[in-house]
Amino acid sequence: MILPIYVYGQPVLKKEGMEVTSDYPDLKQLIEDMYETMYNANGVGLAAQQIGLNLKLFVVDTIQIKKEEKEVKGIKKAFINAEILAEEGEEWAYEEGCLSIPDIRGEVERQPTIRIRYQDESFNTHEETYDGIDARVIQHEYDHTLGKLFIEKLGAVKKQLIKRKLENIKRGKVSVDYRIKFAKF
Ligand code: NI
Repeated sequence: MILPIYVYGQPVLKKEGMEVTSDYPDLKQLIEDMYETMYNANGVGLAAQQIGLNLKLFVVDTIQIKKEEKEVKGIKKAFINAEILAEEGEEWAYEEGCLSIPDIRGEVERQPTIRIRYQDESFNTHEETYDGIDARVIQHEYDHTLGKLFIEKLGAVKKQLIKRKLENIKRGKVSVDYRIKFAKF
């Protein structure tokens, strides 16, 4: 089922996620719905906060990007109760966007390599290392589960430039081809 995507101004986007327990109702269906919602909006990642749930849960599919760039690998995964244990390397800039902040993109500096611990859909724990685009998308989605948005990492000038656009998104004055839920005033 395609779910509406919560956009900038919705309080849930600022909420840190709670632990997901193995008895969480219909978790497999929820994850399936998150993938469907993400693909419908042409996204490469989606966090629970973006569909209105403050949980430590996000899905990622970088295989789509890698196909375009003709690289071999990429990941399609659900990350439950993820914790980034370490970030390494010299920060690199990459233009990020977010389904919850339509029409705004900006260069964000992040470290290239991460070490992450998470649980899969069967609640088996994994500890893995990612880099490049995979790490980038994970870092962005992981931030969502901490209640953080990429625009908070933009420079002061850029922040000023997007101010009005953000106000419009809050009021639902934005044109997107997927269903959104904006903050009510
Ligand atoms: Ni996002």
